[in-house]
Amino acid sequence: MDELQRELPDVEATQALACQLASFVAAGGVVWLRGELGAGKTTFARSVLRALGVAERIKSPTYSLVEHYPLASGNDAWHLDLYRIAGADEMDYLGLDALWAPGAVSLVEWPERGGSAIPPADLEIHLSQALEAAGRHARIVPVSARAHAWLRQLAVMDPAGESSTGACADAVPRA
Ligand SMILES: Nc1ncnc2c1ncn2[C@@H]1O[C@H](COP(=O)(O)OP(=O)(O)OP(=O)(O)O)[C@@H](O)[C@H]1O
Ligand SMILES: [Mg+2]
Repeated sequence: MDELQRELPDVEATQALACQLASFVAAGGVVWLRGELGAGKTTFARSVLRALGVAERIKSPTYSLVEHYPLASGNDAWHLDLYRIAGADEMDYLGLDALWAPGAVSLVEWPERGGSAIPPADLEIHLSQALEAAGRHARIVPVSARAHAWLRQLAVMDPAGESSTGACADAVPRA
């Protein structure tokens, strides 16, 4: 499967998709979030983090560039927004080696600005304004072998919000 497309008519739909994807990346995964300013990348990342059990405030890493969240599983989650990165030097200062750990969960906005300092994507999610409505359109593109397996499972899940385990019914996050 080359890609999967989903319509996200409202933030709740974004949260539902994020929750389904969270079950796959929980044990480690790199998600690159692509899309123009305001496309919904932070909303998506925040929803994944909530679904992974992050209870603390999740602020946009617009200025900090990177935020770290320890997960109950013992793994670490990282949320990056590289829009304001000045160059490769600044990437070095951020000290992103931990993103390469096998169990790390990395959610990266504006990944094209990170160069080789960020790990390659398992999944790329392209978000855009829906053509004739207020919502968003998502293209979910698997890159790694494990992401291809995730996508085959995602394709048979009900977009209305349940994961295969039903976990997303309760886990639908509130921003
Ligand atoms: N599926 C959706 N349907 C409708 N509105 C949405 C959806 N997803 C996000 N939004 C809204 O879009 C606005 C921008 O979202 P967000 O901040 O997540 O975008 P972004 O891609 O991270 O932007 P930036 O490039 O500035 O970081 C927010 O008001 C958010 O509530
Ligand atoms: Mg953002």
